[in-house]
Amino acid sequence: MPGDLPYNHSMSNDFLSTDPYKGVRDFYPEDMAIQQYIFDTWSKTTESFGYERYDASVLEPASLYKSKGAVNEEIVNDQTYTFTDRGDREVTLRPEMTPTVARMIAKKQKELAFPVRWYSIPNLFRYERPQKGRLREHWQLNCDMFGSDTVAADVEIIALAHQLLLDFGAKPEMFEIRINDRAWMNERFEQEGFTHEQSNAMLYLLDRKAKIDNFDEEAEKIAGKPFDLGLSDPAPDSRLGQVLAGLMQLGINNTKVSLSTVRGFDYYTGVIFEIFDVSGENNRSLLGGGRYDNLTGLFSADPVSGIGFGMGDVTMRDFLETHNLPMKKTKSEHIVMIPTKPDQDNKAQMIAALIRQENAGTVVSIDYNDRQVPKKIEAARKKGASGYIVIDETDGHSIQRFE
Ligand code: HAM
Repeated sequence: MPGDLPYNHSMSNDFLSTDPYKGVRDFYPEDMAIQQYIFDTWSKTTESFGYERYDASVLEPASLYKSKGAVNEEIVNDQTYTFTDRGDREVTLRPEMTPTVARMIAKKQKELAFPVRWYSIPNLFRYERPQKGRLREHWQLNCDMFGSDTVAADVEIIALAHQLLLDFGAKPEMFEIRINDRAWMNERFEQEGFTHEQSNAMLYLLDRKAKIDNFDEEAEKIAGKPFDLGLSDPAPDSRLGQVLAGLMQLGINNTKVSLSTVRGFDYYTGVIFEIFDVSGENNRSLLGGGRYDNLTGLFSADPVSGIGFGMGDVTMRDFLETHNLPMKKTKSEHIVMIPTKPDQDNKAQMIAALIRQENAGTVVSIDYNDRQVPKKIEAARKKGASGYIVIDETDGHSIQRFE
């Protein structure tokens, strides 16, 4: 009886929303084409530097993000999607990939031949306030190198980040690489006699420097006396100086030493960096990363040094749009077969198979709809096809091209 049904949509306006969950995206084919182009470009460039792809599940035990050393307090306290599973385990949808890759490296540490160069393109989840360049779900290219704590490794990872942007067609003057060194900052804090808490508070304050207008006042509160960071350019023989020189030798000059680049994660111990669009249109970083010496130490007594970065798809797409850069592969040929009667469907399939066989890469699709030929031609044009073939009794093969 209809009255027993829990819902009777046809009788009410109580339909489900067609919107996705707040802050996440649906990828219709046109978005997916852009997404695929971004992923393909990421993979191609990263693999050309010798990085191998890995992956893992989006589910991780919540403890992975709570352990001391892996912590980004803002992410853990306010931004993780954490739930209890049916077996009473606390589970988190991964908000970043670095703890996962550190876990995977530690697990196979004895078998791996270092330096290890790995990359991944995970889907990540953070409960953020959705805004331009920030969503609750994004995909992030992660490139990391383990087992080499050298200036050359720092230079390579930053050069890879730079090359990724060039391979999307960007010019170096469109973006800026902001670099700092956590170790350098910490030395400075040690000279001041800061406790660990004071150092962290100062890093956090520096992170917000551009957003506040009372930096000096706040810095004095933390230091307990007037405080001047007193750092300007790094000495040429310092780690940061050497990294900058190495990048310069590779022709990479769009770098800037930035004392307010501190990165939000506790695990960074050395060189840290972020890349920004300089157009003023996008104020979120395109990518961010750095060296982390002790993260695999959460899992084993003998930590392996790592350095890497994460680059998000949301900010990447915004950057491409802002600078009018290509957002798709050059289109492959797409031919639509148009049978004029139902009994020609099979003939259309045979011709389609032939064309695909003889022209690798050509897309051939068939319009089986029972409608007038001009309507089918119009539909093919709307789909962005490059041409069509009308199958009739006499001549089934000639391709008509759209302008
Ligand atoms: P992160 O700075 O949190 O670093 O994120 C890196 C990049 O991911 C950002 O620059 C941005 O492009 C993108 N991103 C982050 N959060 C969002 C969001 N809510 N919506 C859209 N895009 C976002 C990390 O995650 C480090 N684990 C990176 C790393 C790898 N460090 C070493 N290896």
